[in-house]
Amino acid sequence: MPKLFLTLESTCDETAAAVVSDDLNVLGSAVASQDELHERFQGVVPEIAARAHVERIIPVIDLALRRANITLRELDVVAVATTPGLAGSLLVGLVAAKTLSLALDIPLIAVNHLHAHVFACQIAAGEPLFPCVGMVVSGGHTSLYDCRSPLDFELLGGTIDDAAGEAFDKVASLLGLPYPGGPAVAAAAESGDPHAYRFPRALLTEPDRLEFSFSGLKTAVRYTIAEPGRRDFSTLDLDTQTVANLSASFQEAVVDVLVAKAMAAIRRTGHVRLCVGGGVAANKRFREQLRVMIDAEDCQLYIAPPSLCTDNAVMGAIAVERWRAGLVESLDLDIVPGLVRPK
Ligand code: KG4
Ligand code: ZN
Repeated sequence: MPKLFLTLESTCDETAAAVVSDDLNVLGSAVASQDELHERFQGVVPEIAARAHVERIIPVIDLALRRANITLRELDVVAVATTPGLAGSLLVGLVAAKTLSLALDIPLIAVNHLHAHVFACQIAAGEPLFPCVGMVVSGGHTSLYDCRSPLDFELLGGTIDDAAGEAFDKVASLLGLPYPGGPAVAAAAESGDPHAYRFPRALLTEPDRLEFSFSGLKTAVRYTIAEPGRRDFSTLDLDTQTVANLSASFQEAVVDVLVAKAMAAIRRTGHVRLCVGGGVAANKRFREQLRVMIDAEDCQLYIAPPSLCTDNAVMGAIAVERWRAGLVESLDLDIVPGLVRPK
């Protein structure tokens, strides 16, 4: 009989639960998004996110179990993402997981949310992908890893300021496009000229540095559209073609940097597989340019399908590897909200 894992995810603004077996079959999955709660603030408000997780976590677990057609008693292991994320959000998942571990007397496993994003590629591919270069590009993170095994990730570099998705969201807000900004900027970019504006590609010419910086790019867009000192962008009245050109030029700058750094990571590690996760991996231009680079390098590209790219609990199946290695946690397990940045 396969062992059944309940995996929980509440690091940011998605409340998610999944039932997966130790042979990586997904029996049931549920995700409750909070986009509509944060939309009017054009970004995630941590306190609102935490309160919404409290309301949603039990119904979401219940839905995942029903979709898997099992009861709580049939679970063998419970796993939860404990790092990185918003403190209040992480705590809700952790308390739920500890409660189940104690009540059902089953082992508790801690999941690193970013490692899980990379592992999502292996779940989707249905075959082992390690060793590989792992890349996570989301609203909160832009990270490159040397992934020697599902248990051995070395951070090669991350963003030193804004994440790639965060830059999309902030630029969308400047341009009067809806939240979340990534899909809106990408859609506007379709009819724009990527060379209309020459925006900065930070740290691109330093191939030894696998860090990213997107806050200067966002500022460059800001000063292109408005004079210093302006605070209200809602009255700017940019015409559609200008918004399209700004979107396309901005997107091109982000994609150039992401692709170049991914290639640098491949060359540095010598790995022949690149596994990409996170919401920005849904970006069409990014996928196209990654494909061109990967083919030229004679490597293989793995990007999880959109439902496994954005936050979900299925990717928490990386817990199976930890459980097999005996990495079981005690009930004093704590959250680690902060990102560990390279020195
Ligand atoms: O992984 P995710 O769902 O949540 C986080 O963990 O952050 O990623 C959400 C991010 C948002 O910043 C959103 O704007 C961005 O992914 N995103 C995109 C696209 N779709 C989502 N960015 C660029 N192009 C897209 N098509
Ligand atoms: Zn994420």
